[in-house]
Amino acid sequence: MSEIRDLRVLITGASSGIGKALAFEFANKGAKLAITSRSFGSLRKVADELEDTFPGIQAPLAVACDVANREKVNQLIKRCEDQLGGIDILINNAGTGVYGYSEMTALEDFRSVMEVNFFGAVHCILRVLPLLKKNGSGLIVNISSVAAMYGVPYLGAYSASKAALVALGQSLRAELAGSGVSIMNVYPGYTQTGFFEKEKNVGGAHRPPGPYVSPQRVAKTIVRAIKKEKQELILSLGGKMLALSRSFLPWLVIRVMKRIANKLRNKKEEFNE
Ligand SMILES: NC(=O)c1ccc[n+]([C@@H]2O[C@H](COP(=O)([O-])OP(=O)(O)OC[C@H]3O[C@@H](n4cnc5c(N)ncnc54)[C@H](OP(=O)(O)O)[C@@H]3O)[C@@H](O)[C@H]2O)c1
Repeated sequence: MSEIRDLRVLITGASSGIGKALAFEFANKGAKLAITSRSFGSLRKVADELEDTFPGIQAPLAVACDVANREKVNQLIKRCEDQLGGIDILINNAGTGVYGYSEMTALEDFRSVMEVNFFGAVHCILRVLPLLKKNGSGLIVNISSVAAMYGVPYLGAYSASKAALVALGQSLRAELAGSGVSIMNVYPGYTQTGFFEKEKNVGGAHRPPGPYVSPQRVAKTIVRAIKKEKQELILSLGGKMLALSRSFLPWLVIRVMKRIANKLRNKKEEFNE
């Protein structure tokens, strides 16, 4: 995809953070946007900001949609077909988190993270893929996480949901060879967004203090990688080191993960069962 101009791009979870930054990056490159999240008010604000920043762009299509709801996703894609004439790039970015001891994570929290991070993307992919295949071109970008590359302490449910998304992307990529449709899996590291205020903390541990990278920088790198037709994009140095050591120094990864678990454990909050 060397040229982004006039491509129709649907971004889920575009009301804040990485999704919002991606919307600005794509608008800057002249794409036609459809943006979605559950809160229509926040989306409307993003759409207005986009139009103020880039006068002359086609007004972004803003549609409220919970990606965990398959029927709502079907309605969203129908709106994209009716109002944009289709979709060229789908960005599965909507996501949510649970943080803390995996064994303290309730079953419904495991399920709700899967419903958004994995099934939300599945709903979008199953509905958009036939359109892309019919066109003989298109791209699906899955915003996963470094936490998908290896089970990270206190992120059991989240890591599992993001790893599931990666695996689906890899399966699809091979199945779609020759169809003109590509899949890109993206693995961001810690990014400074509102994600951590919204996630559910089930207790026992705290997040590392940072510094975290800006969502604007993440979005720029993703769009650059789309133009270069990359299929796998690891965004942090820690992620790149993890990818290497996972294959060549697996014992080291185990040791480092144990050290991280110990460092982030809330010492006063030991739980006894
Ligand atoms: N921040 C990080 O350090 C980091 C690292 C690696 C990967 N990621 C991934 O990057 C993606 C974006 O996260 P972010 O950091 O930018 O966080 P964010 O600012 O909280 O953005 C999450 C977006 O997803 C939307 N969303 C949440 N649940 C949804 C649902 N059920 N249906 C539709 N939209 C939903 C939110 O809007 P509404 O609440 O209005 O629905 C919001 O627009 C996520 O998939 C996250 O897992 C983040």
